[in-house]
Amino acid sequence: MKRYHVTTFGCQMNAHDSERIKGMLEELGLGEAPDQHEADVIVFNTCTIREKPDQRFAAHLAQAAALKQREPDKVIAVGGCYAEAQRERLFDLYPYVDVAFGPGSIPHLADWIGTGGQAPRGRFAEWRSFAGDLPARRERPFQAWVQISMGCNSKCSYCIVPSVRGREQSRRPGDIVGEVTRLASAGVREVTLLGQNVNSWGRDLLPDVRTEFGELLRAVDAIDGIERIRFTSPHPKDFRVPVIEAMAECAAVCEHAHLPLQSGSTRILKAMRRTYGRQRYLKLVDEMRAGIPDLALTTDIIVGFPGETEADFHETLEVVKEVGFDSAFTFVFSPRHGTEAATMPDQVSEDVKRERIERLVDVVQRSARLRNAERVGRTEEVLVEGPSRTDPSVLRGRTRRNTTVNFSGGGVPGDLVHVHIERATSTTLSGREVALVAV
Ligand code: 5AD
Ligand code: SF4
Repeated sequence: MKRYHVTTFGCQMNAHDSERIKGMLEELGLGEAPDQHEADVIVFNTCTIREKPDQRFAAHLAQAAALKQREPDKVIAVGGCYAEAQRERLFDLYPYVDVAFGPGSIPHLADWIGTGGQAPRGRFAEWRSFAGDLPARRERPFQAWVQISMGCNSKCSYCIVPSVRGREQSRRPGDIVGEVTRLASAGVREVTLLGQNVNSWGRDLLPDVRTEFGELLRAVDAIDGIERIRFTSPHPKDFRVPVIEAMAECAAVCEHAHLPLQSGSTRILKAMRRTYGRQRYLKLVDEMRAGIPDLALTTDIIVGFPGETEADFHETLEVVKEVGFDSAFTFVFSPRHGTEAATMPDQVSEDVKRERIERLVDVVQRSARLRNAERVGRTEEVLVEGPSRTDPSVLRGRTRRNTTVNFSGGGVPGDLVHVHIERATSTTLSGREVALVAV
């Protein structure tokens, strides 16, 4: 039997695409290999959001190239966002790559990998469609990602995504509900709805099915067996009252929103073309907290955007303190070829970026530690995911607010249990199981 190995970089959308890639390769009769050495088909699902994933991919690809030199029959396939961004030069840069495909071309991968293992060298697979009906090899039987849109219509000046993933295209509500219904009957209890900007979902649909994200949350909430609904990522500019109401009223929608801030300075937000300012972001946070009790808020922040002064950066620190995020992903600005910000004047030096990100991480950790400490003494509903990563005698799971909990107890993966929280750090909670949740 021929075997494949898939290495995934980047966001949850890519992780989900890789599930489809694996599912398709298995449908073609290939089995999974533990690493690229033992694989006949080596697949990379790439990311290009910052320079770091580009570099990590280059290192992995060099290893694969060395393997292929010894065993020329190996097929190397490169998909995802880096492949799309570099499509004009990919086969020149890496002549040993056999197949390349963009993020929307997964349904065609089977044709290109070829059932007989004959790969059509040097051709770029093109197509843009949802992969919702393809088989998927999911990591856990009780959790699933569901793609609701592809592409992005925003024009954030730092971001490469709109140019690689194209214009936003919403998946039809009936197709989404159909997929979630099938997942629920297969035993899935938690779904995460995925889109580059979930809050603008539905706006591009034809009038016969045009709807909006709040309505989609309600439709998915009504599906029997779905206990938890998550979504990522919303754009603050499109987060409207009906979505807040749907979050508050739907029992399965989790009390968590990932709301990318990017900067706390209105001046920098303007240069980033985020179309909201500091005040509007803070007002949205107030509205969300007023409408959704016990809401957890997480965010993305970029430091060192061109022109960012110490005063601008200070405003970011202030907003982080004022909001009190439960956690945050922090990034150093990375100029991406072809984006507006890459050629802006007043690029910030690497030293200043380093220094700022360290200070930011400190403030974020303090905020996360405080937020988590507030959970001590409470009982949280936890979806059991498996053994703890550090201590296999203890279980690990996540609360509805998306915090990782390590706990002693007798649950099995997929169970919903109640855990009494006894301790907290900036990243995790720990405690003991007190009951299995009856559903
Ligand atoms: N440099 C640094 N961070 C970036 N992000 C997107 N583009 C860049 C860039 N050029 C960050 C944003 C986004 C997250 C997914 O990655 O914070 O929300
Ligand atoms: Fe995801 Fe963006 Fe990376 Fe593509 S470039 S994999 S959309 S994070």
